[in-house]
Amino acid sequence: MTEKSVRQRRLQNNDNIGELKKNNKEARKNKIAANNEELRQATGSFKHRLWTRAVTVISVAVIVYFYKIGQTNETKFALVKENLALRMQKFNCSQEYEREIKQFPQCVPTKCGRFVADKLIEPSEVEQLLEMASNVINLAGSSGGASILDIHSGALSYGDKFLNIYQMPQAKEQITSEHLRTYNLVKGKIKLAIAEHFGIAAEHLHLTYPTFFSRITNATAKTVHDEYWHEHVDKETYPSFHYTSLLYLTSFNKDFKGGRFIFVDGEGENRTTSCVEPKRGRVSAFTSGWENKHHVEQVTEGTRFAVTISFSCDKKFSISDPKMPALKE
Ligand SMILES: *[C@@H]1O[C@H](CO)[C@@H](O)[C@H](O)[C@H]1NC(C)=O
Ligand SMILES: *[C@@H]1O[C@H](CO)[C@@H](O)[C@H](O)[C@H]1NC(C)=O
Ligand SMILES: *[C@@H]1O[C@H](CO)[C@@H](O)[C@H](O)[C@H]1NC(C)=O
Repeated sequence: MTEKSVRQRRLQNNDNIGELKKNNKEARKNKIAANNEELRQATGSFKHRLWTRAVTVISVAVIVYFYKIGQTNETKFALVKENLALRMQKFNCSQEYEREIKQFPQCVPTKCGRFVADKLIEPSEVEQLLEMASNVINLAGSSGGASILDIHSGALSYGDKFLNIYQMPQAKEQITSEHLRTYNLVKGKIKLAIAEHFGIAAEHLHLTYPTFFSRITNATAKTVHDEYWHEHVDKETYPSFHYTSLLYLTSFNKDFKGGRFIFVDGEGENRTTSCVEPKRGRVSAFTSGWENKHHVEQVTEGTRFAVTISFSCDKKFSISDPKMPALKE
């Protein structure tokens, strides 16, 4: 694909997002009104233990975060204007991570670290996933700024709760077998890249829970589920995680403002930060321990879409791919 057509496609996407934002409020109101009864039923039957756990951990982190902000010494890990085949930084694992992952000897990275890869996922794949995620999330969505969609468990933010899309025919209609094929293909590519760059065999990486789409706007947080900006360590929030990855579906400073991903290194006087500017099709992946403490800056304008795809070395935490039969039931 030529530079120009890529750019045109981006511009189109931006228009779509603009259009989407415009229609969003009205559409959401209508859809929610129309489907209220169904949504209520779906909400009632969905359990979300781990989301609650995430929130507990996050709440503890908040005090530390606000205390330390303002003393940052920032480096740029990946800018939106860069188009990186691979940028990788390797360093020692945190002691906690190293100790824990030793239980899975074939899954221990040669070094811990983080990387960004902008050419792994095709623009057409990104478009498909963005289309699906925005269509489904727009059917409901959080009343605060952060909405999630997990097509494995069916969890979708709705108001200050979650509902189950598998109990919502109009949500299922938005997810085609083509979307799922792309989703699974994309997950596979990311898994291979993680395996390659951390020096392990892909068969030892298991897709784990939660793996989910997120949509972030500047709407005021209504519950702790909307507070995505606190500093945290993935392994603490989700003990099953060993490798975390993100695929960005919209771009910093084009589709939204704010919303950069910030790694936090060092403590106190030695604290430094390293930022990743999200960009359509950019994959960012890292070992999930204390060596990769991070947070996401608050989105101040526009809509930020991403997919979090997580892997465990522990087979007992593996989840299976979403399948059409489950959607059609
Ligand atoms: C990394 O780990 C090695 C081996 O444990 C150690 O010798 C080295 O000093 C560590 N490097 C840093 C920067 O901590
Ligand atoms: C900062 O780094 C210096 C030199 O490595 C070390 O002596 C000091 O303990 C560190 N401070 C903190 C708060 O980690
Ligand atoms: C929120 O974002 C919208 C555009 O997405 C913008 O018009 C509005 O000013 C923003 N509100 C605040 C409080 O920043």
